[in-house]
Amino acid sequence: MEKKKIAVLTGAGVSAESGFATFRDTGGLWEQYDVYDVASIEGWYRNRELVLKFYNDRRRQLKDAKPNSAHLAIAGLEKDYKVDVITQNVDNLHERAGSTRVLHLHGELTKVRPENGLYDSTYRTDEVIDIGFDEVNLGDMAPNGQQLRPHIVFFGEAVPNIEKAIDLVSAADILLIVGTSLQVYPAAGLYRYARNDTPIYIIDPKDVPVSDMRITHIREVATKGMEKFKEILANQ
Ligand code: APR
Repeated sequence: MEKKKIAVLTGAGVSAESGFATFRDTGGLWEQYDVYDVASIEGWYRNRELVLKFYNDRRRQLKDAKPNSAHLAIAGLEKDYKVDVITQNVDNLHERAGSTRVLHLHGELTKVRPENGLYDSTYRTDEVIDIGFDEVNLGDMAPNGQQLRPHIVFFGEAVPNIEKAIDLVSAADILLIVGTSLQVYPAAGLYRYARNDTPIYIIDPKDVPVSDMRITHIREVATKGMEKFKEILANQ
């Protein structure tokens, strides 16, 4: 019998218990930095060094971080379900927890690519280089001679994987959303593509800005919420 499909949309909250600050909680990253200085295409062209330092710092932190039991529980769902993780996170904790199908909407911290000309966000996939947890600095050039930049979707840039994400959500029999404030589009609109008969579970300790008949809000942190979600599945 074919396995049921679960699409799992995650945000910074799923990595909070691995020690990563979220963006919009108190003390979050966007309270420490101006998002437009370090995560927008204009910020990149205004001050590349500041942007490279911001991502070098986060990449260094990722090296010593560990997936938490929520990442592990999401990976564990693959035993009984066909699971596609659609993450807004740029960390690789889902992969390190064992998830085998992870679609990154906003890029990947461990990867870089050439900046292909002013305000040109296009690139070929074979230009993307995996640098692991190393630094990349001004003057580090790609094989094509262009300055290397983070393989991150900056604010102001397109989200190339959104179409694939829409297909995964529309095909899902269950949609699970973990740890996202659902404030940043187009990711925040993905839940609307779930079929009318697809139950939607949202794990978040705080209120979420969406209301929809199909939504069950599990008001817990990710680790505890995943335990509750697994109980719900077991009782179905
Ligand atoms: N467990 C589960 N959820 C949590 C936890 C936790 N331990 N701690 C916080 N949260 C929830 C918060 O209540 C909030 O709803 O996680 C969410 C974090 O929201 P944001 O900080 O806005 O992060 P996210 O939704 O991933 O941001 C989306 O914005 O800045 C851009 O590109 C960046 O991908 C990011 C996007």
